[in-house]
Amino acid sequence: MESICVRSPGRINVIGEHVDYIETFSVASAIDLYNDIILIKTAGDSISLYSDRFGLSPDIPYRSIYSKKGGIIDFQKFWYGYFISIFKVLKEDGITIDCGLEVKIVSNLPDGAGLSSSASIELGFLYGLNELFNLKLSDLKMTQIAKLAENKYMNSPCGILDQYTIMFGRKNSLLFLDYQSLRHRYIKIPGDLQFYIIDSKIKHSIAQTPGGKENGYVKRIEQKNRLEQLLKQRYKLTLRAAVMNCINSDFTIDLQKYDIDDPTLMKRFRHFTSETARVLMFVSYLEQGDINEAFALLFESFKSLSVDYEVSIPEIDKIVDKFSALPQVIGCRMIGGGFGGSILIVSPASTGDFDLFNSYLDKLNSTMGLSAILYSLKTADGVHLI
Ligand code: GLA
Repeated sequence: MESICVRSPGRINVIGEHVDYIETFSVASAIDLYNDIILIKTAGDSISLYSDRFGLSPDIPYRSIYSKKGGIIDFQKFWYGYFISIFKVLKEDGITIDCGLEVKIVSNLPDGAGLSSSASIELGFLYGLNELFNLKLSDLKMTQIAKLAENKYMNSPCGILDQYTIMFGRKNSLLFLDYQSLRHRYIKIPGDLQFYIIDSKIKHSIAQTPGGKENGYVKRIEQKNRLEQLLKQRYKLTLRAAVMNCINSDFTIDLQKYDIDDPTLMKRFRHFTSETARVLMFVSYLEQGDINEAFALLFESFKSLSVDYEVSIPEIDKIVDKFSALPQVIGCRMIGGGFGGSILIVSPASTGDFDLFNSYLDKLNSTMGLSAILYSLKTADGVHLI
């Protein structure tokens, strides 16, 4: 095989935000906004990339990728750093590619919108390499490599939500995933539902750039680490175990069990616990066919992200507030890492109306001085060849 084309989607996270790195649960889905990545074998010993968004990269010789000096790639400076990071992690696993490559990326997935464009690129590229060079990596192994590439070489301490969903998503289904066992099951989406995304165009990044200003996502991970230490020292428990101990069988929560004296860490713990309980409740409602009850939990999830986890910003609070008040909307919240990015809106297909939501958003844009964009979305299959 000399060339290959991969379709790698973005993702939405329906519920279970900021809990992948405490290893509880989410319900998420791949979406019909994607990166198409073409890989062509060429003569020579370098790789060159073309993106319809970022243009042409220089020719990058493999010896410069595999040299020990490489260091951390500044992704803001080099968009193609995402591809290089995959080569670097593969090398640590004893896999080197030394065949010349031309890579082309065509995308309708907005970047910096909290829809996982970077994970989509990394995983899609790795998936293509796996096929083209018959690397025999399992699907799960690929999700782990793509996550490690972000963590280690793109300076982003993300969990595995994005990579996992992009790999295992399935059209017309939601993915209920357990981060501890790294297993999932599918829940059929009830017929009459329509998803929308508002890309606020307020760029979010979860990576810490060298010398850059303090990054909110990185700070949340540091707080999570402190909480983990505290629970381990005082109670010999993992964070997941402590969270699960606080969830009753009717999904109410009881936070009195543990003495967490730092008020900020207590707020973070409350978010981890209530959000995990909401995911379990969401699945239970959905499986009983209680769509309205299930999606109403998104409003609660947002409140928790905003008040207890403090990852929202005033502009996002306002857009969520306004859309949540519309009678056509049965669920609405910010998704992804936070501090900007995208908002998910769910409505019954029979009453949801793109034009109506769009003109409502136009008005908000002009009063708030924003240039947010509305997308109508469908769930989609995970990464695959086309
Ligand atoms: C980003 C990260 C994910 C996850 C979400 C928050 O999208 O990449 O790993 O932590 O934020 O749920």
